Amino acid sequence: MSQTVLVTGGAGFIGSHTCAELLEHDYEVVVVDDFSNSSALALDRIAAAAGRPISAFYEGDLRDAGLLKWVFTQHPIDAVIHFAAKKAVGESVDIPLEYYDINVSATTSLLRTMLAHGVHKLVFSSSCSIYGQTETVPLGEAEPAAPTNPYARSKWFCENIIADACLRYPELTAVALRYFNPVGAHSSGLLGEDPTGVPNNVMPYMMQVAVGRRPELQVFGDDYATDDGTCVRDYIHVMDVADGHRVALEHLGAGFEIFNLGTGVGTSVLGLVQAFEDACDVTIPARIVGRRAGDVPKLIADPGKVAAAWGWRTTRDLHAMVRDAWAFQRRNPFGYASELTTSPGRV
Ligand code: NAD
Ligand code: WQD
Repeated sequence: MSQTVLVTGGAGFIGSHTCAELLEHDYEVVVVDDFSNSSALALDRIAAAAGRPISAFYEGDLRDAGLLKWVFTQHPIDAVIHFAAKKAVGESVDIPLEYYDINVSATTSLLRTMLAHGVHKLVFSSSCSIYGQTETVPLGEAEPAAPTNPYARSKWFCENIIADACLRYPELTAVALRYFNPVGAHSSGLLGEDPTGVPNNVMPYMMQVAVGRRPELQVFGDDYATDDGTCVRDYIHVMDVADGHRVALEHLGAGFEIFNLGTGVGTSVLGLVQAFEDACDVTIPARIVGRRAGDVPKLIADPGKVAAAWGWRTTRDLHAMVRDAWAFQRRNPFGYASELTTSPGRV
C-alpha cells in the first residue's frame, strides 16, 4: 500500500517540487500551508506537473494545534516533511521574534502532534546558513554551527530540538537536510519559483530581469577572494533537492542525522549569469555594485556524507538548473499569476 506523507509548506518553492516528486513515485500527499508566501495556484500546478493531485489540502498556520490534530486524525500519515517556515535572512533581522515564533514554534507543535498520533518519521528543512561566516571549503557536516542571523539560528534551534526529541523518544527518527542554494524548476515548465515581492535571491531576480520585469541584475561585489571576484555558491537543482527528500524517507532509520544537500561544485555570480546566457541565449544586463552585508565569499558543500550513507548524489548540472528555471519563467513571466492574466482557463 502506498505511504502517506504530510508536507508542511507544500505550496512553496521546494515543497511544491517535492510534492510532485512524491506523487510521481506513488506516495499519497497531504499538504498544510497558510499561503503566507505562496498561493493555491501552486496546488493546481503540482497536479498538472505530476499527472495526479495531492490527496488533501489544509489552509492554515502550522502553529494551530487544533488544525494539526485534525489533519493527523483525518489521514493515515506515515511520515512528515517539514518545509513550512519563513526564510528571508534580512527580514529575520527586522522581525526576529516572528521568525523564532513561526519557525521554532511550528516545529515543536508538529513534533508534539506527531508523537501524540504515533507518527515517527520526520524530514526537516535545514540550511547551509547554519555554517555562518566560515572560510572552510568544502563544508562538511562536522563544521561547527555558527549562524549569524535569526533565520539561521531558528534553523539551528530546530535541529537541536529535533535531536533532543529523538533522544527522549527513541521511536522517533529524523533527518535534517541542510540545503545549499536551491534553484531551477520542474522539467514540465509548470512548477517553478514564484516569489512574492522583490526576489532576495540571485536566481529568481535574474529570471525576472531575463523576462523584462526588472531592468538589470545588480551583482553584489566583485572584490572577493574568488577567481572573478564575485561570491561563489553551490547551486543545486530543486528537483535534486526534492529527490533527496524522497530518498530520505526511504532511509529514515533510527535517531537523528544531519546531511548536506549540495553538489560540491561552486559557481560565481558572474559564472551563473554566463551559464544562463550561454544556455538560454538571453542577455542579462548586469552591473557590479557594492557588497551585500553578511555575504560569505564561498559556500560549497561537501556532499560526501549523504553519498556514503545512502548512495545519493545530485544528477542535474548547472546547465539543467538555468535551462529549467528559464523554461518556467518564459512560460510564466508573472509566475503562477500569469495564467490569470494571460489565459482564460486554469492549468
Ligand atoms: P517558501 O517560502 O517558498 O515555502 C515555505 C512555505 O511555507 C510557503 O508556502 C509558506 O506559505 C508556508 N508557510 C510559512 N509559514 C507557515 C506557517 N506558519 N504555517 C503554514 N505554512 C507556512 O520557501 P522554500 O524556498 O520552499 O523553503 C522551504 C524550506 O526550505 C524552508 O524551511 C526554508 O527555510 C528551507 N530552505 C530554503 C532554502 C532556499 O534557498 N530556498 C535554502 C535552505 C533551506
Ligand atoms: C547568492 C549570491 C549574493 C542577489 C540565501 C540564504 C541562505 C539559503 C540560500 C535559506 C550572493 C549574490 C544575490 C542579487 C547578487 N536560504 N546576489 N545579486 O545569500 O547564498 O543564500 O539562500 O536557507 O540562508 O542566505 O543566496 O541567492 O541571495 O545570493 O549579486 O540580486 O548572489 O551576493 O553572492 P545566499 P542568494
